[in-house]
Amino acid sequence: MCGIIGYLGERPVRSVLLEGLRRLEYRGYDSAGVAFFTENGLFVHRVKGKILDLDESLARIEVSGRAPGLGHTRWATHGEPSERNAHPHLDCRAEIAVVHNGIIENYQSLRRELASRGHRFVSETDTEVLAHLVEEALAESGDLAEAVRRALQRVKGAYALAVIWRKDPERIVCAREQSPLVLGLGEAEVFLASDVPALLPWTRRVIFLEDGDLGELSRQGVRLFRLDGSPVRRPLQEITWDASQAEKGGFPHFMLKEIYEQPEAIRDTLRGRLDPESGRVDLSDAALSPEFFEGLRKIFFVACGTSYHAGLVGKYLLEALAGIPVEVDLASEFRYRDPLVDEGTLAVVISQSGETADTLAGLRLARDKGARVLGIVNVLGSTIAREAHRVIYTHAGPEIGVASTKAFTSQLTVILLLALYLGGLSGRLSPERARLLARELVEFPGLLQKLIPKVHPLLKELSEHYFRQENFLYLGRNILFPVALEGALKLKEISYIHAEGYAAGEMKHGPIALIEESVPTVALAPRESGVVYEKMVSNIEEVRSRRGPVLAFGTQGDEHLAGLSTDFVGLPPVSWEISPLLYTVPLQLFAYEMAVRRGCDVDQPRNLAKSVTVE
Ligand code: F6R
Repeated sequence: MCGIIGYLGERPVRSVLLEGLRRLEYRGYDSAGVAFFTENGLFVHRVKGKILDLDESLARIEVSGRAPGLGHTRWATHGEPSERNAHPHLDCRAEIAVVHNGIIENYQSLRRELASRGHRFVSETDTEVLAHLVEEALAESGDLAEAVRRALQRVKGAYALAVIWRKDPERIVCAREQSPLVLGLGEAEVFLASDVPALLPWTRRVIFLEDGDLGELSRQGVRLFRLDGSPVRRPLQEITWDASQAEKGGFPHFMLKEIYEQPEAIRDTLRGRLDPESGRVDLSDAALSPEFFEGLRKIFFVACGTSYHAGLVGKYLLEALAGIPVEVDLASEFRYRDPLVDEGTLAVVISQSGETADTLAGLRLARDKGARVLGIVNVLGSTIAREAHRVIYTHAGPEIGVASTKAFTSQLTVILLLALYLGGLSGRLSPERARLLARELVEFPGLLQKLIPKVHPLLKELSEHYFRQENFLYLGRNILFPVALEGALKLKEISYIHAEGYAAGEMKHGPIALIEESVPTVALAPRESGVVYEKMVSNIEEVRSRRGPVLAFGTQGDEHLAGLSTDFVGLPPVSWEISPLLYTVPLQLFAYEMAVRRGCDVDQPRNLAKSVTVE
């Protein structure tokens, strides 16, 4: 997803912009550009490719310059990735530079209209109309903030944008509608960015803009308005997490670092919320009390991708522990059907970024139909967090790798807490069982901390056997079926190997036709899962008898399973409720090592973005 950085102050503008853009790289992008001022006026430079390419080509031109400046990383939505389509975009006279994240829905009619009045367009983007609209409005008002405000009244769609103007080089004007934008305040300097990590080298004092806000930034500070021109105030917040948390900390990739951070992320997510002695869950930090859940008849989980898989696990947990009927929907499906949602419904929207467009639309639909909306969100101040009635934050810290790892296990942790909480309220979960589970959950991060460095070398070694394969099946049953889906998603998104997750019982209904020597099956079969274990063993036998290799993940010491499989990874026995947390982690490590062996860009897989703020 596009990333924006803006700066106005005394520091060398080029290096601030490049450093800011580097810290937004995790969002995924295909081209990049900057705009700032030189003695000759407004200078703009764009490249297709990485920030490194932008940096090198700027160094060759030997241009420095001064603030204000804007930088942008683009993830193509309108027009192919190219230098021409990269931001910043300019008006006809090259006096106004605009960077934008989002989609202008009515750009085609605006473009026709502007072209008919003589405006020249040089890109295929929706963004370019903004520069020309501001150009026209400036001709009338002569004031940049007023011109941007007027221009935006013509625009339909989503945007976070920032604008600079050659004739007013002491100002940046920015605005937000459905795309994230945060301002950073320093001493006689101001920043803006799509996300907090881009600001952390310089400031921790931030202001999150709301939809419909417009900001006028100068060295003296920030003035905020609504689009109707009325002034507005937003709270100044202090970011407490450390800059080094957003960096790789000695690991070769963010993804691996984040896999290793999971014990800590789970611990942080549990912190203050679970008493292992009594088994009681306290969600008062999310302003949740039994009244919020009164009259609850049904739960919908709504999410995308990995977060959707967390919702699927939630169905097993909440139905079993709390006895409440649960539906799980992909947000992109939920939003376009007519779900049976009413006041007795709790919609739980799950999102790491808190900005996923489909999930946000699902939230709004559920809310408009009268549901109570509970967000499970990792990013503080994100749109979903702000629009949900209540939010239980996952405390995974910033997740930089595009493939979700620690955010997922933190989501599972929150869902477990919710299941324990509602299980207690409904009386379905006995205090005895709640205590046992609470104790096991509190001890789980310690178990995982020991396990990760132990199984990692084995998975690395196994990747050597498997990395040349092009097709994988992942099989699980019951509560580990969603984990099979998640394992397959991890493998495909970072190693580009085709992988399908299946409920193992579905094998005979189609996928078994795929089995042959070159199609390995990853099977999840903990011995503690009773009858489901027996069924998994039968599925594994079916695969083996068709010469399919099987990489089985099961309970350590399970000689029978180990003997049956081609390769076996033994994991400690845990309760059914906690098994998704445990079995997810070695699958992440396996996907990671496979991708590394195949030479893939693990942290920024092709075609993917960290935060999917468009449909
Ligand atoms: C996969 C992955 C994606 C996200 C999905 C939803 O590793 O990260 O599938 O889970 O795009 O994102 P959030 O959770 O930010 O709403």
